[in-house]
Amino acid sequence: MFRSVVLFAILVMVFGAVAPVLAQQDTNPYTHIDPKSPEGRTIQDLYKLIFWMGVVVFIFVQFLIVYTSMRFKRRRTHTSRPAQVHGHRTLEITWTIIPAIILLIIAVPTITTIYNAYAAAEDTEEAMIVDVYGKQWWWEIHYPGMGPVGEDGQPTDLVTANEIRIPEDQKVVFRLYSNNVIHSFWIPELTGKMDVIPGHERRLSITPETSGTYYGECAEFCGVAHAWMRFVVKVQPQAEFDTWVTAMNSGPDTPTAAFAPEGDVSRAPAEFSACLLCHNVTGVSEAAAEGIATDPSSVGAGPNLTLLSCRDTLAAGLLENTPENLALWLLNPGHVKEGNYMHGVTPGIKNQDEANTYPNQVLSGEDVTAIVNYLESLQPAAGCPEDGVARGNMNTGANAGNAPVLATPAAGTPAPTGGGEDVTGAGSSEAGAGTPATEGEPIAPAATPVAINP
Ligand code: CUA
Repeated sequence: MFRSVVLFAILVMVFGAVAPVLAQQDTNPYTHIDPKSPEGRTIQDLYKLIFWMGVVVFIFVQFLIVYTSMRFKRRRTHTSRPAQVHGHRTLEITWTIIPAIILLIIAVPTITTIYNAYAAAEDTEEAMIVDVYGKQWWWEIHYPGMGPVGEDGQPTDLVTANEIRIPEDQKVVFRLYSNNVIHSFWIPELTGKMDVIPGHERRLSITPETSGTYYGECAEFCGVAHAWMRFVVKVQPQAEFDTWVTAMNSGPDTPTAAFAPEGDVSRAPAEFSACLLCHNVTGVSEAAAEGIATDPSSVGAGPNLTLLSCRDTLAAGLLENTPENLALWLLNPGHVKEGNYMHGVTPGIKNQDEANTYPNQVLSGEDVTAIVNYLESLQPAAGCPEDGVARGNMNTGANAGNAPVLATPAAGTPAPTGGGEDVTGAGSSEAGAGTPATEGEPIAPAATPVAINP
């Protein structure tokens, strides 16, 4: 008996050692252990209930195993086989009823929570609606009725991509759509995941309590670049959110327009015209399809680029948003993010040197420089809007080290350079307004992008 108690105590200690490890998960941007919304907490309460019931069952079963193996082991004094037992009605009824009760204790609150969550997402009376379209492989975000006034005098959708801003302490109902494959919308620190299913409207309600930057990702395998279908959620005070909405609707302003031809940002450089087949910029072009495109051929429609230089990341959370990474991305999108649809859309290798360096290149270095300069210039007059409590870029997460390995261009190979003005370091959200670089300095694409890790 003494030995079984000692063994049992060791088991309990080993089990207890796991608890601090779990507690540390709080610092991980992908943890669900410490939810920052009431919706997340109701799910977390279920998790805790099941966890502690599991602890009780585990300890009880381990105790029985240790006790019976010690108590009933063969001893020297034993000369014959022990009594052989076949069937024990009381025991069998007991171990059927106890698990049934345990399952009931789990099932009732679980089903209640599920139906309450559905009901909360249907009740939009006090909620802000945000429509999210799962694309391959990025997220399109619509704020219905919050965009600029359209030609018919009605407000349009405010459209952005891969970066969702929502006000603090405001119930938000996400309506989730897809016209391609099944995705899953997940912001681990805020609440549970919800599948995004073609032909269905799925809903998820979140009332974020704490300002800050949260990471989200697609949690359902959806094709080649599924792992790089991520997004940022910025929860901020209502006033900051309103400022952002105003800035988005105003579109880019003129003070940074020195980078664009003739000082007018509404006039994109010629190199940008190909981009406008798939991308929209408020105040510049709104021709490309957005939302659920009925025409399957428009599957290539790309992210809305309004105030792109104010976002934290490029390529749906893959790259930190810097001019160098933008240049790298434009030079060879298929190499940076395998499978994406921008790759190969605009063939146009301009010279053999570049073709050798970037075999799958679709734009020349000159084109890239012009486009990067133009996109970096797309900022509001007052600089990029506040983005709440910065968490840093996604690449500074706890699990850095999964960066995609990119070939470094050999020394001496031409970096994309070109005519027109150049910028470096402009437009990161931390920096606010862009800062012009030395005249004539080329943008070198980052040899290895600062990649971001889940
Ligand atoms: Cu979308 Cu995985």
